Amino acid sequence: MRVIIYTGKGGVGKTTVSAGTGVLCSELGYKTIVVSTDPAHSLSDSFGKRIGKFPVKVTEKLWAQELDVNEELRINWDKIQGFIVKFLSYQGFDKFIAEEFAIFPGLEELFSLLKINDYHSDKSYDVVIVDCAPTASTIRMLSFPDIVSWYMERFFPLERKLVKTIRPVAEKVVKFPLPTDDVYSQVEDLYRKIEHTKKILTDVKTSSVRIVVNPEKMVIKESQRAYTYLNLFGFPVDLIIVNKVFPDEIEDRHFKKWKQTQNKHVEFVREVFAPIPMKISFLGDDEIVGLNKLLKFAVNLYGEDDPTEIFYEGKPMKIEEKNGRYHLKLKMPFFSKRDVNVWVKNDELIIELPSFRRNIFLPHTLASSRVVEAKLEDGILTIEFEKIKGR
Ligand SMILES: Nc1ncnc2c1ncn2[C@@H]1O[C@H](COP(=O)(O)OP(=O)(O)OP(=O)(O)O)[C@@H](O)[C@H]1O
Ligand SMILES: [Mg+2]
Repeated sequence: MRVIIYTGKGGVGKTTVSAGTGVLCSELGYKTIVVSTDPAHSLSDSFGKRIGKFPVKVTEKLWAQELDVNEELRINWDKIQGFIVKFLSYQGFDKFIAEEFAIFPGLEELFSLLKINDYHSDKSYDVVIVDCAPTASTIRMLSFPDIVSWYMERFFPLERKLVKTIRPVAEKVVKFPLPTDDVYSQVEDLYRKIEHTKKILTDVKTSSVRIVVNPEKMVIKESQRAYTYLNLFGFPVDLIIVNKVFPDEIEDRHFKKWKQTQNKHVEFVREVFAPIPMKISFLGDDEIVGLNKLLKFAVNLYGEDDPTEIFYEGKPMKIEEKNGRYHLKLKMPFFSKRDVNVWVKNDELIIELPSFRRNIFLPHTLASSRVVEAKLEDGILTIEFEKIKGR
């Protein structure tokens, strides 16, 4: 199964590219589904056909689905949420606030993403295309597996069996609720699903993340940031799509300056995302709605290429050993030296970027080593670790 995820700033054309790619893949003979994880779905508008929360057959080989975030949340989180609310209420939180607190922003979208896991296990489709919410949400959604795992480890630290044995006695003593067996079941299920989904999404052979941009300054800026974070979380970006580029046919004097500006931006995109390849799609003479227009759009975009191809296969994160020292290398284009702060705390590496922080659980060897040097050169952050003597 191949997974293709489209992300990008609001309104750049993610849904159009997703739906178009879906039509093209199905025409190429792949059993394809286009799944929207954006709570503000628009696949129905794009296909010109009512799409629902279950897969709807669009053509012989094409399905589409607009996931119901509340339902996914209920399936994956209701017991855990119940426990957190109970726990927080015991701590004196107002029930309403506790309920709000038990659902983090981005959680719904994360659970939508877990659907990929089901399709992978069932081998239901050859190609799964994911139409995401605008970039900020996608980044949150993709970074969530790490964050949720971190949170769960701290919230549910005790062994399930132990809790089962001591609960009747312990609750009397500690005066707060301990998780019941069904809460633990849901935690374990969720863990398994998150881990598996992460494995699928970070495997370059299975998944591709493709960033859609428009030839506009602000859009490109946001996408550069997204690209750095995607790298940091280990998601394989293999293509940049520049959409809504003015075609040559537009010769009107009024657009001359616009075209020059766009050309400049297209070149900038090519430069800053290199070596990730770039494809261009032109602004059509009308909205791109319905199967015929979507197919034409996708054929123009992908040309002779098969969208299920892997367009770039570089590893965003690497660990190398050199003279007894480990070098952790992270691709971090677009950030200058003064933007990045790095330190190690216990078994975690903390990388701080403006308005963002990432904790990386270090592999055992690195966790018992100390950081000697961190340098950012040519868009690669290299952190050098040295073994602590005697360990
Ligand atoms: N190359 C194009 N030529 C003409 N119209 C386009 C092109 N690409 C997208 N559009 C139109 O632009 C509008 C926005 O596109 P789309 O809904 O695909 O963007 P989006 O990135 O999914 O937006 P959102 O962030 O709101 O989900 C739609 O009306 C679509 O038909
Ligand atoms: Mg959309």
